[in-house]
Amino acid sequence: MPQLSCLGLYMCAVAVALEVSVGKTNVVTALNGSDVLLPCVFTTCIGFWDLVFTWSYNDSTTLCRGFIKSKAVEPKVQSENFRVVFVGSTTGKDNNISIVLLSVDFSDAGKYTCHVKNPREKGNAEHSSYIELQVVHKLVVADNTLTLIIVAVVGGLIGLLILFMVVKKVVLFIIKKTQDGKKECLVSSSGNDNTENGLAGSKAEQKVTPKA
Ligand SMILES: *[C@@H]1O[C@H](CO)[C@@H](O)[C@H](O)[C@H]1NC(C)=O
Ligand SMILES: *[C@@H]1O[C@H](CO)[C@@H](O)[C@H](O)[C@H]1NC(C)=O
Ligand SMILES: *[C@@H]1O[C@H](CO)[C@@H](O)[C@H](O)[C@H]1NC(C)=O
Repeated sequence: MPQLSCLGLYMCAVAVALEVSVGKTNVVTALNGSDVLLPCVFTTCIGFWDLVFTWSYNDSTTLCRGFIKSKAVEPKVQSENFRVVFVGSTTGKDNNISIVLLSVDFSDAGKYTCHVKNPREKGNAEHSSYIELQVVHKLVVADNTLTLIIVAVVGGLIGLLILFMVVKKVVLFIIKKTQDGKKECLVSSSGNDNTENGLAGSKAEQKVTPKA
């Protein structure tokens, strides 16, 4: 058993023992005055206990600290800032250690980093991932006219495609019908033609003769 778990740890170390991720994009844009979710999840293949995580701002201020005894219990989180609310959960499928920053202001722009330390990992290494928060007056919704044009064009194309498919179906149906008609013609004409019938007939006769 000890050897087996060693091997497990070794394989983990070769791959990734713990990984911290803020998701697909690490630039988050928030409207001045709104609440913004700063996502962060971590994955570990060796499990964890007494895990410690922190969120920091601009690599200087600690926003909150969390402690997770084990996968079975939710983290104990201590926020250093009343506008920072822990919204994550680590007992489910994801080890979600996201926070929400309430009522953001322009001065909140900057770098938000989540750090994770798993004592179970060899060397108790710290892993982290960061988000760049941008605070804006107005969320620039991708130009509406352009969106409309795209929607219209895509809609039109889909419409055309459907029309094309319907026409194709109808045409194929007609072609099939015509060919079926032709086939019937061929079958009936080959029925008159005695080559096949003659063969079948001779076979039948051959089978019948020995019995008689
Ligand atoms: C940003 O939002 C806050 C709170 O909603 C408001 O008091 C402030 O005037 C806003 N600032 C600007 C420049 O819009
Ligand atoms: C983490 O939890 C928050 C709050 O429930 C949720 O909004 C967010 O989508 C979660 N993130 C991930 C990556 O699961
Ligand atoms: C944090 O960093 C950003 C740039 O990344 C800067 O604009 C901002 O002023 C910094 N905030 C503080 C409080 O140092």
